[in-house]
Amino acid sequence: MSEKKSSTSTTRSNFTGKLGFVLAAAGSAVGLGNLWRFPYCAAKYGGGMFLFLYVILALTFGFSLMVAEIAIGRKTKLSAIGAFDKLKAEYYFIGVLASLVPIIITPYYSVIGGWVMKFLWMYITNPVEQIAMTNEQGLTVFEEFISSPVEPLIWFLLFLGITIFIIAIGVEKGIERSSKILMPALVLLVAVVAIYSCTLPGAIDGIKYYMMPNINDLSVKTVLSAMTQLFYSLSLAMGIMITYGSYMKKDINIETSVWQIEIFDTIIAFLAGLAIIPAVFACGSPENLKAGPSLMFIILPQVFTRMRAGRFIAILFFFLVFFAALTSSISLYETCISIIQDKFKQKRTPSIVFSLLICIIIGLLSSLGYGPLSMITFLGMQFLDLFDFISNSVLMPIVAFFTCIFVGYIIKPKTIIHEVESSGNEFKLKSLFTVVIKYIAPILIVIILIASILQAFGKISM
Ligand code: PHE
Repeated sequence: MSEKKSSTSTTRSNFTGKLGFVLAAAGSAVGLGNLWRFPYCAAKYGGGMFLFLYVILALTFGFSLMVAEIAIGRKTKLSAIGAFDKLKAEYYFIGVLASLVPIIITPYYSVIGGWVMKFLWMYITNPVEQIAMTNEQGLTVFEEFISSPVEPLIWFLLFLGITIFIIAIGVEKGIERSSKILMPALVLLVAVVAIYSCTLPGAIDGIKYYMMPNINDLSVKTVLSAMTQLFYSLSLAMGIMITYGSYMKKDINIETSVWQIEIFDTIIAFLAGLAIIPAVFACGSPENLKAGPSLMFIILPQVFTRMRAGRFIAILFFFLVFFAALTSSISLYETCISIIQDKFKQKRTPSIVFSLLICIIIGLLSSLGYGPLSMITFLGMQFLDLFDFISNSVLMPIVAFFTCIFVGYIIKPKTIIHEVESSGNEFKLKSLFTVVIKYIAPILIVIILIASILQAFGKISM
């Protein structure tokens, strides 16, 4: 979104047309969360069961929370902090908590963006076979890369630099316009790679693992990871959809827009999983299922070496992933700037510089955490995983919980229903919305949070 976001401005510009809103919100939603994070979470947390839970949660929880956030934004015409404050001043803190999330995510997002750029560059300058090789110590190209002290830092700073450059010279709008062509291209390309992966010999076990839920994989961890992945991927519980909603015109149907965003986002994530997980089995290395953040960078090079025109496809693929990451990081960075502007009443330039400082500090730790700082871990996590854990597994569920309480019991679901219906259409799933927001979602979040805290401290095993 390129309009200046400020809760103090009285005339807010709007997205042009119905599609404008959906495309802008989808541009923010579709990013590394779909392509990098979804496949590794699905691989790690039970394949089919993860996918099954994800879809169920998307249809109920994700839908309800997104409708609520967009409606809050459209009703108040303010971004998160101002919006909660305006509706009920005591609940101002939800906006503050929500705002912390993008401030934690943006830096490490840029670190991963840097990894993507490095791979794009490697495929431009090297033959595919070289990128799929392991060194004398058995390390993959990726493992060697992230454990080196300087190189990942340079790529991180480069990615961050590009994001800030685009924001500083104010061409985000142009970038977003190109996403109308590049996003569909991305879907197509991920589908091509997915089809190819599924036809590799040995892939069938991976397809089964990914698509068939196994009841033994049902655990609190799986539910928690599916839920947090949902927030992350749909840009929920971090104030972003409130801001988007604040720019949405009154005559646009929130309910259908939400379905469109959700379906688009979920299809891309599903295809990314299909491109990566069956290939893990086809490469004969199911131990990689637990690889976590490195999964995409270890498995895809294997797939590309086997594909005809692999190098060309790889370059195109990493370029499109880079582009999707860039549009998301612009949206994340813009959010950080507007939070600092609104909260500390700063001008735009000091806000950009301040956000940059935070990004560099958190980003440096995230990047070095895989190299020189790898001996420092918290609850068994390196810095990047730790930041991901704090934002996704702690802050987002808390924000989501309070948002549900706020909507369910303070402003009441009817406020949201009324806002949705103010565009002249009926809110078809309002009963589902009400039940989810008032009962199902808050109860589920509390159970999951308590169980995962107990588990983290070794009190119960699941
Ligand atoms: N939803 C984005 C993704 O899937 C991440 C993101 C979150 C982007 C918040 C912008 C704002 O990658």
